[in-house]
Amino acid sequence: MKKNTILMTILAFIVVGILVLFDKNSNPKYIGVADGYEGPIKVSVTLDKDKVSCINILESAETPTVGGAAFDIIIPSIIKNQSVAIDDVAGATTTSTGVKTAVVNALNSANLKLEKFNTDLTKVENNITIAEPQTAPIEEVANSPYKDAEVVDVIIVGGGGAGLTAAIAATEKGAHVVLLEKMPLLGGNTTYSTGGMNAANTEFQKKAAIEDSEQLFYDDTMKGGQNKNNPELVKTLTDNAKFMIPWLIERGMDFTDVGQFAGASVKRIHRPAGGKAVGPVLVKTLIDKATALNIDIRTENKLTKLLKEEGKIVGVEVDNNGYVYKIFAKAIVMATGGFGANPEMVTLYDPALKGFGSTNSRGITGEGIKIVNENGGQLVDMELIQTHPTVVHKNTVMITEAVRGEGAIVVNRAGKRFVSEMATRDVMSKAILNQDGGSAFLIFEQNVRERLKATIDGYLKGKYVIEGATIEELGKNAGINDAELANTIKIVNEYVTAGEDTEFKSNALKTNLSNGPFYAIEISPAVHHTMGGVKISSSGEVLDAEGVPIPGLFAAGEITGGVHGANRLGGNAVADIIVFGKIAGDNAADFAKNKE
Ligand code: FUM
Repeated sequence: MKKNTILMTILAFIVVGILVLFDKNSNPKYIGVADGYEGPIKVSVTLDKDKVSCINILESAETPTVGGAAFDIIIPSIIKNQSVAIDDVAGATTTSTGVKTAVVNALNSANLKLEKFNTDLTKVENNITIAEPQTAPIEEVANSPYKDAEVVDVIIVGGGGAGLTAAIAATEKGAHVVLLEKMPLLGGNTTYSTGGMNAANTEFQKKAAIEDSEQLFYDDTMKGGQNKNNPELVKTLTDNAKFMIPWLIERGMDFTDVGQFAGASVKRIHRPAGGKAVGPVLVKTLIDKATALNIDIRTENKLTKLLKEEGKIVGVEVDNNGYVYKIFAKAIVMATGGFGANPEMVTLYDPALKGFGSTNSRGITGEGIKIVNENGGQLVDMELIQTHPTVVHKNTVMITEAVRGEGAIVVNRAGKRFVSEMATRDVMSKAILNQDGGSAFLIFEQNVRERLKATIDGYLKGKYVIEGATIEELGKNAGINDAELANTIKIVNEYVTAGEDTEFKSNALKTNLSNGPFYAIEISPAVHHTMGGVKISSSGEVLDAEGVPIPGLFAAGEITGGVHGANRLGGNAVADIIVFGKIAGDNAADFAKNKE
């Protein structure tokens, strides 16, 4: 190539580069890339003077319903707080970390040090606020696509796992369904779910030679709930969960892995291959099915009222970004979730939880429970609120119980175990809060990491994990007594070899913790599940103060109370939303048909 051709080519690249880097308002843009869950995430970061004013996702292979949820929460929050030191979205931690890292990489690529923008990815700031998702301005919805006073068969309120399941079930029974979701994205708390779905006596358990029964599942659930559960609801849950595993698989779900969770006598939690987080896969499966069935799904449509005529519930009033309209229906299924993300409501019912963080999706604020109660629905067990014991200390990212189920141990700063790793959440949370500093450490190594690869790699990317090439180095790095830690691991390995934990009776010490590198995550409890809510029959009907069904009003999922008693077992929330979502959807469709 001639010299001036080379010069011309270089000049052309510079001109194109300048054009790409400056938008029509001359605000500079920088490109950054980082790993997400499904592949690289490429962002463009626009600056307005010394502020980040816009972040666009240029490329990403993330699942829209999951990564999309993280994008919609993380991006406005980075801009609002001018910081990447913000919580990851639970259930989408790798995607969240990917976006934040890509933003930092974009700024670093140009050697930019913005005075008012915090690029420290290692610490979460305490004063950070989560921005509201960007919703359409009110003027834009003046011409709402929704008509006032439509008539349908069944309205489902809430687009998480229970609502989507109910919508699919009712539609498959021939009902004309509208599903309302107040948030911009579907999924609710189900998106954040990492564990799996409990079911007893399944084909997957049989293949793995796991001996289980509906009765054992029932007994474990009642024991875990301190026998405060409603026995009839628990029977419905434990008898029916096994039918819902193939029901979900037929609709595209992957449940090929069965693992051990706390409070379960045997391996019973069904989850996607490789111990992958269940929520994102389940939400995608349900949304794909609902979309294939052409269900009328309306996000950013918030229930404001149940409509009554002559004392009977006949429909709903809905607010779509300021446009208020009515839909009439023969039956309504309430699936709006619990109230774990509403700190005022949490502390109203359990003042001891003041100041606790929450693992919940921020839409889980309990209005549905209040609306049903105002319309005569009875509430039960409202004071029974669960904390999850292993949430990243001073953060809201939950470390799945599956890590303990695969052999991780829990130690205090002195390097000693103090509770069974398979203790139920209430017992374990209390024990952790009693330790020096009110926190403890999950300790595991390469064998455990390999078994839950995708999930644990996400924790590493999120920088929640402290590493050490040896146990002693890990102890030093984590601030744990290293000699005691080494001694504890030696004893645990002896229990593994002997096949019995004579000290704390954990049934999950099955992994020799000897294959470095070694890992620690500092953890403490945060609000996770609200066991109380609307009282229902085993047919999913909402019951009034006298225990009589309110005609045409059904409920399913975390909005309801009584299934889990004083303490929910891990894996029983997904079982609950699917079993009772299906029952409520089926029965609402039948109710609507009988009214024709
Ligand atoms: O620890 C977990 O993965 C949580 C599961 C659940 O709450 O069911």
